[in-house]
Amino acid sequence: MPDVRVTIDDREVMVPAGSTVLDAAKVAGVDIPTLCAHPAIEPIGACRICLVEVEKQRVLQPACTFPVSDGMVVHTDTEKVLDARKFVLNLLFSERNHFCMFCQMSGSCELQDLAYEAGLDHWRYDRAFPKLPVDASREFFVMDHNRCILCRRCIRICGELVGNHTLGLKNRGANTMIVADLDVPFGDSSCISCGTCLQVCPTGALMDRASAFLGEEKEITRVKSTCMACPVGCGLEYVVRDNRVIRIDGDWDASTKGLLCETGRFGPLHDQRTRAYQPMVKGAAGLEAASWDDALAKVASEIKAAGDGVHTLVSGFATNEAAKALKALPGCAGLLDGAAADGAVDLAALDEADLFVVVNTDFGADYQVAGMAIRRGVSNKGAKLLLVGEGCDGLSAYALKTYSADKAADAVAFAKDAQSVVVMAGPKGACLAKEMAEGIGCNTALFGSAGNSQGLAAAGITCACEATKKVCYVYAGETGAIDEGLFKALSEADFVAVQTSYVEPWAEIADVILPTPTTAEKSGTTTTAEGKVKQVVAAVDTKRPGEVEIVERLSALL
Ligand code: SF4
Ligand code: SF4
Ligand code: SF4
Ligand code: FES
Repeated sequence: MPDVRVTIDDREVMVPAGSTVLDAAKVAGVDIPTLCAHPAIEPIGACRICLVEVEKQRVLQPACTFPVSDGMVVHTDTEKVLDARKFVLNLLFSERNHFCMFCQMSGSCELQDLAYEAGLDHWRYDRAFPKLPVDASREFFVMDHNRCILCRRCIRICGELVGNHTLGLKNRGANTMIVADLDVPFGDSSCISCGTCLQVCPTGALMDRASAFLGEEKEITRVKSTCMACPVGCGLEYVVRDNRVIRIDGDWDASTKGLLCETGRFGPLHDQRTRAYQPMVKGAAGLEAASWDDALAKVASEIKAAGDGVHTLVSGFATNEAAKALKALPGCAGLLDGAAADGAVDLAALDEADLFVVVNTDFGADYQVAGMAIRRGVSNKGAKLLLVGEGCDGLSAYALKTYSADKAADAVAFAKDAQSVVVMAGPKGACLAKEMAEGIGCNTALFGSAGNSQGLAAAGITCACEATKKVCYVYAGETGAIDEGLFKALSEADFVAVQTSYVEPWAEIADVILPTPTTAEKSGTTTTAEGKVKQVVAAVDTKRPGEVEIVERLSALL
């Protein structure tokens, strides 16, 4: 479509036909306040805070939904517009309880910011608002209906982007309320705790338990980094105050569209395990605190004595740089947690698919942000989902058909009629998925089992490990649960050194524990399932040795 000419507050710009006045204002560098609009979702024109004067229009128009036309002239700061904005704010502040000084989100609230901007220092109308419930049934965040302005951002993001459609409305007019499913407590609903609604809520209605009261917007800094908890490698932003991460937000600019799953958003701040801060060496009374020099000297002497009987096991939490250093240790190196995947996943292609075939993998539990592409494809675009084999339960509510592995040929036959098919799997389904994709003649989206499994493979660490060697050096990072058989084998090794961020579960089997930074505390790169090398950036300075430095100091002693 050809561009059209629009003038906003005397600034002339050319924008594509079909743009809204708000889009054009952005191009012109003119700021129009918004509340219900959000760049990640479709506008609905619900709150009316963005009203502007459009020449030749009888009444003010909402900038977020009003389409531009050639020659249009718009004014965003006339008296009429400013009065209307103040009127809308007066209504919003009067409708429910917005006593900011008692609100956990005071200082980080878009409604409050707009009130300050508009010079609103009191409300014009009686505050006859009722006392509304607070729903604290979800583990990580709370819904306070008293602060809700019914902008519906939460409903739309959950439906449009997460594809989960948990949220909706009940009642009409002043009695309208946000509900989960058919009005059940949020904690009992179909919510998957991704927290995307929390991130877009403009007020204190959705409130993060961990960061409430810990920092106003002006006191925090944001550090962009990458989640390493699974191979999807979602872009994230650490929200930091006083050298402490208080919250994790999704990065809207990343290829993962600002989405995170429960593990990536809430896992790091709610991990109940004991952090490993000090090196520990096993003595007569069990693990005891030791100096870095003593702990590293102990590990080095065991490695030297073992000759080629050394095995290094590396988890997907290792950065590319750490993987390289670990691979250079004596003996052989293998994966601590599973297997790498062949080839790169095209996440953008998932949004084009009209048929997903998922093999032996639960995209409702693993690779959840990739699973959200399936959810929104099926529920918003009429795509179909076939589940093949075992362990695909998390998305069964979205599936058109389910096949056992020995009936995979029937799924292939079904898929032949579709236009754009993607066969998706983790390591357990990879072989069958490749065969099926060949039969269908379509692309695969194969995921490794651990965060940086692509980067580990590039460093030459590809195979799963049998920990049968006498001496094992384990790079665990933040890894919690590991395969039972492997853990047992490790417990039978002569000597085990573990480079870990947490004491558990390693204290039972480790002879030496070397504390390593978490993902939020280290810098380096990771290679995501898309095959992209992404930056991992330290959000805080711990003054403790970095993961590569630990391995290099050890290597220097060998
Ligand atoms: S946490 Fe995620 S799934 Fe749950 S209601 Fe919010 S957006 Fe929807
Ligand atoms: S909970 Fe927040 S995002 Fe949802 S409608 Fe209320 S104010 Fe808007
Ligand atoms: S899908 Fe994977 S990479 Fe993304 S937030 Fe969740 S755990 Fe992290
Ligand atoms: S932002 Fe335009 S109507 Fe709400």
